[in-house]
Amino acid sequence: MHSGVPDETVMTTTILNGSEEDLGTAADALRRGELVAIPTETVYGLAAKGLDGEAVAKIFEVKERPLFDPLILHLPPSWRSDLFDRGLIDLKALSEQGRDQVTTLTRALWPGPLTIVVPKTPAVPDITTSGLPTVAVRIPNHPLTRRLLDMVEFPLAAPSANRFGRISPTSVDDVIEELGGRIGWIVDGGTCEIGLESTVVRIVGDGTVQLLRPGKVRRSEIEHLLGVSVGELGGDREEGAAEHSPGRLETHYAPSSPLVLLEGVASEALETIHAESSPAMLFRSDATMASFLESSGTETLEESSLVAWRVLSPAGEPASSARNLFRMLRELDSMNPGVIFAEPPEGDAGISHAIRDRLERASRR
Ligand code: TXA
Ligand code: MG
Repeated sequence: MHSGVPDETVMTTTILNGSEEDLGTAADALRRGELVAIPTETVYGLAAKGLDGEAVAKIFEVKERPLFDPLILHLPPSWRSDLFDRGLIDLKALSEQGRDQVTTLTRALWPGPLTIVVPKTPAVPDITTSGLPTVAVRIPNHPLTRRLLDMVEFPLAAPSANRFGRISPTSVDDVIEELGGRIGWIVDGGTCEIGLESTVVRIVGDGTVQLLRPGKVRRSEIEHLLGVSVGELGGDREEGAAEHSPGRLETHYAPSSPLVLLEGVASEALETIHAESSPAMLFRSDATMASFLESSGTETLEESSLVAWRVLSPAGEPASSARNLFRMLRELDSMNPGVIFAEPPEGDAGISHAIRDRLERASRR
């Protein structure tokens, strides 16, 4: 039984498909203030009626998420064209330049994996934003969730559909592993195309823009669109980091086994790896796996000290590495290794930067 959640909350979790009837069932549940797990192009989300404080409170309870970690509002697709008239964004607190920046970004990148943090109005309950004066918004790009948002015509608050601090789910099976028995419905939208959470930026209002979380949308793409340089919130200890992106303070994406990031490749760290009992390995590519084998002096990995391994992407290709990352971490973790070693991706821009960010977080515990 899951710890921390009382027995009476154990319920049957129904998997819904993309039919109008099933989406109608999901929409009805959301209208009643119930929780539904939804597919997005990034990861699965745990959705509730976003402007209803009581419904949103259930998200925190079911995820065991601390109340200081604010949620993203997922907006109906049609809201992109009249975003400023929807009563969520405090236009007085946003300069004209800030408004132009929001318009430029939403026109170019919505629906898609970009979340924008802007000043909020009182229409957004404090519980949704953890008391912050800002709200995070995005229009997700998954056909079923776009349709669902069209049906309900209200914003859905949705964090990733995992228990707090754990690996984000990228398939229905992952959601069941995380929240099965705790929620009534999951909409099955297949495997998430991107596999990593959205890029989060904050429009400060004085013309500057901050990157709060790296993702598929690159910093350079935002800089190019806006013609300003985008600062990245430095290390988690940076002053003000907690205030501007509370989620960054937490250890996230953590498997149960300790994760150790190898700076470089496994073949250069043989002694470290062999010193561990039951190590598992997440290789960057077939090439690094081959050089590991060569350095180990064994013919096959079965003969090595590794108890389990995965290759993020045979060709070391960034997009498929991102898509595979969370699933492979879950698979390795399920074999209960003593430690999981992971090779960081090559390069440090865009999605590779995001993969490194998630691996570094997973290694901090
Ligand atoms: O791709 C995604 O963004 C997924 C899917 C479901 O849309 N959602 C997701 O939500 O990753 P969550 O709750 O796991 O992460 C949201 C992040 C957190 O780090 C949170 O601190 C930050 O966004 N955030 C939310 N509201 C904020 C705000 N007002 N100011 C600063 N950061 C905020
Ligand atoms: Mg999350």
